[in-house]
Amino acid sequence: MALQSKKRASEGPDGPPARSERSPGKFITFEGGEGTGKSTQVAMLALRLEAHGIAVLVTREPGGSPGAEIIRHVLLSGAAKPLGPDAEAMLFAAAREDHVRCTIKPALDSGKWVVCDRFADSTRVYQGVLGQVDQRLINGLERVSIGDLSPDLTLVLDLPVEAAFERRTRRRGGAAPDRFEAEDLEFHQKLRQAYLALAAREPHRCVVIDAGTSKEEVAKQIWRVVNSRFDPGMAPLTAEDLVS
Ligand code: TYD
Repeated sequence: MALQSKKRASEGPDGPPARSERSPGKFITFEGGEGTGKSTQVAMLALRLEAHGIAVLVTREPGGSPGAEIIRHVLLSGAAKPLGPDAEAMLFAAAREDHVRCTIKPALDSGKWVVCDRFADSTRVYQGVLGQVDQRLINGLERVSIGDLSPDLTLVLDLPVEAAFERRTRRRGGAAPDRFEAEDLEFHQKLRQAYLALAAREPHRCVVIDAGTSKEEVAKQIWRVVNSRFDPGMAPLTAEDLVS
């Protein structure tokens, strides 16, 4: 298959090199339940990185490329729900493959830092844990959609479900909830636990951020983590950054 032969061509004699050896840019993903403030924090981090002279591409899932945005519409409208969680997982993976190939990899290869609102962990949690899609299918889809592209850092925004629910209701105004927002409180409790378990399994990649404080305070926590992970030199702390 085309994807496999492309991957083999990039592998070194001892197997695939770590992504950061191939691409100069850093890949940072944000994960968490609904209403945890991911989109706000993605934007705040991007601004701060840019202020430090780093070229940033902000993107999101599902979506982030023309093909994936079409699939996003199918998924979030609920049109694919009757097909069941396996089919939904396949559609998320199809969108991701397009997003990685058309948007993320080119940006990383050109030296940009990519900040992405949701990525493969969302499929692991929403479809794998909550939707009970077979782990082998999740793993297989991940292999074909992202290959060896693993985020350098994943920030898991954590918030008690009741607080997230309030934020979501406020944010939505009078608009109807989308396919996943409409799930009940128990779903969102399980979602939170699944994210915490995932972060605990991969502590080298994932950092849990307490999203229960002001957006400025959350942004400060995130900035500290980004600096400690990618120090030295990439994004030096300013006096303002050090004010706690
Ligand atoms: P979005 O409007 O982007 O919501 P959020 O602000 O919460 O990110 O909707 C994305 C929805 O799709 C969200 O409910 C999570 C869900 N989702 C999955 O179920 N699996 C996935 O792989 C991805 C990327 C998202």
